[in-house]
Amino acid sequence: MRTIIIINGPNLNLLGIRKPEVYGILTLRALSQELIIYGKDKGYKVECFQSNHEGKIIDKLHSTLKKKKYIGCIINAGAFTHYSYAIRDAIEAITIPCIEVHLSDIEKREEFRKLSVITEVCKSQFKGMGIDGYKRALDLLLE
Ligand code: DQA
Repeated sequence: MRTIIIINGPNLNLLGIRKPEVYGILTLRALSQELIIYGKDKGYKVECFQSNHEGKIIDKLHSTLKKKKYIGCIINAGAFTHYSYAIRDAIEAITIPCIEVHLSDIEKREEFRKLSVITEVCKSQFKGMGIDGYKRALDLLLE
Protein backbone atom coordinates (compact mmCIF):
# COMPACT_ATOMS: atom_id res chain seq x y z
CA MET A 1 0.00 0.00 0.00
CA ARG A 2 1.25 3.49 -0.86
CA THR A 3 2.75 4.77 2.36
CA ILE A 4 3.83 8.10 3.77
CA ILE A 5 6.38 8.05 6.54
CA ILE A 6 6.18 10.70 9.26
CA ILE A 7 9.44 11.10 11.15
CA ASN A 8 9.50 12.97 14.46
CA GLY A 9 12.86 13.77 15.99
CA PRO A 10 14.27 14.34 19.48
CA ASN A 11 12.06 15.27 22.42
CA LEU A 12 8.88 14.93 20.39
CA ASN A 13 8.13 11.79 22.39
CA LEU A 14 7.41 14.27 25.21
CA LEU A 15 4.56 15.99 23.38
CA GLY A 16 1.75 16.83 25.77
CA ILE A 17 4.19 17.20 28.66
CA ARG A 18 6.89 19.44 27.20
CA LYS A 19 5.95 23.14 26.93
CA PRO A 20 2.26 22.57 26.05
CA GLU A 21 1.90 26.35 25.57
CA VAL A 22 4.35 26.03 22.65
CA TYR A 23 3.81 22.51 21.31
CA GLY A 24 0.19 21.85 22.31
CA ILE A 25 -1.48 19.32 24.54
CA LEU A 26 -1.67 16.37 22.14
CA THR A 27 0.58 13.46 23.01
CA LEU A 28 2.73 11.94 20.25
CA ARG A 29 0.46 8.90 20.31
CA ALA A 30 -2.70 11.00 19.87
CA LEU A 31 -1.07 13.09 17.14
CA SER A 32 0.11 9.97 15.30
CA GLN A 33 -3.32 8.30 15.56
CA GLU A 34 -5.03 11.37 14.13
CA LEU A 35 -2.61 11.51 11.21
CA ILE A 36 -2.94 7.78 10.50
CA ILE A 37 -6.74 8.19 10.30
CA TYR A 38 -6.39 11.35 8.20
CA GLY A 39 -4.27 9.44 5.68
CA LYS A 40 -6.49 6.35 5.76
CA ASP A 41 -9.57 8.44 4.91
CA LYS A 42 -7.73 9.54 1.79
CA GLY A 43 -6.72 5.98 0.91
CA TYR A 44 -3.11 6.09 2.07
CA LYS A 45 -1.15 4.38 4.80
CA VAL A 46 0.61 6.71 7.22
CA GLU A 47 3.48 5.25 9.20
CA CYS A 48 4.82 7.17 12.22
CA PHE A 49 8.35 6.94 13.56
CA GLN A 50 10.02 8.86 16.39
CA SER A 51 13.59 8.78 17.58
CA ASN A 52 15.84 10.83 19.81
CA HIS A 53 18.87 9.56 17.88
CA GLU A 54 20.27 11.22 14.76
CA GLY A 55 21.60 7.95 13.28
CA LYS A 56 18.24 6.20 13.66
CA ILE A 57 16.51 9.05 11.85
CA ILE A 58 19.08 8.79 9.06
CA ASP A 59 18.60 4.99 8.86
CA LYS A 60 14.84 5.49 8.60
CA LEU A 61 15.30 8.01 5.79
CA HIS A 62 17.63 5.57 3.97
CA SER A 63 15.09 2.75 4.35
CA THR A 64 12.79 4.63 1.94
CA LEU A 65 15.31 3.89 -0.83
CA LYS A 66 14.87 0.15 -0.38
CA LYS A 67 11.16 -0.04 0.37
CA LYS A 68 9.26 0.98 -2.71
CA LYS A 69 5.97 1.43 -0.78
CA TYR A 70 7.11 4.86 0.45
CA ILE A 71 5.88 7.72 -1.71
CA GLY A 72 6.69 10.65 0.55
CA CYS A 73 8.15 11.72 3.85
CA ILE A 74 7.18 14.33 6.43
CA ILE A 75 9.87 15.26 8.91
CA ASN A 76 9.87 17.26 12.11
CA ALA A 77 13.55 16.93 12.96
CA GLY A 78 13.18 18.78 16.29
CA ALA A 79 16.39 20.56 17.30
CA PHE A 80 18.35 18.60 14.65
CA THR A 81 16.61 20.94 12.18
CA HIS A 82 18.97 23.71 13.18
CA TYR A 83 22.34 21.98 12.84
CA SER A 84 22.25 18.43 11.47
CA TYR A 85 23.97 18.42 8.11
CA ALA A 86 23.86 14.62 8.33
CA ILE A 87 20.06 14.63 8.31
CA ARG A 88 20.11 17.29 5.58
CA ASP A 89 22.33 15.07 3.42
CA ALA A 90 20.14 12.00 4.06
CA ILE A 91 17.05 13.92 2.92
CA GLU A 92 18.93 15.04 -0.18
CA ALA A 93 20.04 11.45 -0.87
CA ILE A 94 16.60 9.88 -0.89
CA THR A 95 14.38 9.94 -3.93
CA ILE A 96 10.93 10.59 -2.44
CA PRO A 97 9.74 14.15 -1.66
CA CYS A 98 10.21 15.30 1.89
CA ILE A 99 8.26 18.04 3.67
CA GLU A 100 9.50 19.85 6.76
CA VAL A 101 7.04 20.47 9.59
CA HIS A 102 7.31 22.31 12.91
CA LEU A 103 4.54 22.54 15.47
CA SER A 104 5.75 25.96 16.58
CA ASP A 105 6.73 28.93 14.45
CA ILE A 106 10.51 28.65 14.50
CA GLU A 107 10.81 32.11 12.92
CA LYS A 108 9.22 33.74 15.95
CA ARG A 109 11.22 32.05 18.68
CA GLU A 110 14.84 32.09 19.86
CA GLU A 111 17.48 33.21 17.36
CA PHE A 112 19.04 29.73 17.03
CA ARG A 113 15.72 28.25 15.86
CA LYS A 114 15.42 30.62 12.91
CA LEU A 115 17.92 28.67 10.83
CA SER A 116 16.80 25.38 9.35
CA VAL A 117 19.57 23.49 7.55
CA ILE A 118 17.05 21.09 6.00
CA THR A 119 14.74 23.60 4.28
CA GLU A 120 16.68 23.71 1.03
CA VAL A 121 16.40 19.94 0.55
CA CYS A 122 12.70 19.79 1.43
CA LYS A 123 9.85 20.37 -1.00
CA SER A 124 8.01 22.67 1.39
CA GLN A 125 7.83 23.79 5.02
CA PHE A 126 4.85 24.18 7.38
CA LYS A 127 5.43 25.82 10.74
CA GLY A 128 3.43 27.22 13.63
CA MET A 129 0.27 25.33 12.72
CA GLY A 130 0.38 22.51 15.25
CA ILE A 131 -1.01 19.22 13.94
CA ASP A 132 -2.55 21.04 10.96
CA GLY A 133 0.96 21.51 9.58
CA TYR A 134 1.30 17.72 9.26
CA LYS A 135 -2.14 17.54 7.62
CA ARG A 136 -1.23 20.26 5.12
CA ALA A 137 1.98 18.35 4.38
CA LEU A 138 -0.02 15.15 3.83
CA ASP A 139 -2.41 17.00 1.50
CA LEU A 140 0.55 18.33 -0.47
CA LEU A 141 2.13 14.87 -0.83
CA LEU A 142 -1.19 13.37 -1.86
CA GLU A 143 -1.91 15.99 -4.51
C1 DQA B 1 10.19 21.95 16.73
C2 DQA B 1 10.98 23.26 16.87
C3 DQA B 1 12.42 22.97 17.24
O1 DQA B 1 13.14 24.18 17.36
C4 DQA B 1 12.47 22.25 18.55
O2 DQA B 1 13.81 21.94 18.89
C5 DQA B 1 11.62 21.04 18.61
C6 DQA B 1 10.31 21.09 17.96
C7 DQA B 1 8.69 22.22 16.49
O3 DQA B 1 7.99 21.26 16.15
O4 DQA B 1 8.22 23.34 16.67
O5 DQA B 1 11.94 20.06 19.24
O6 DQA B 1 10.68 21.25 15.61
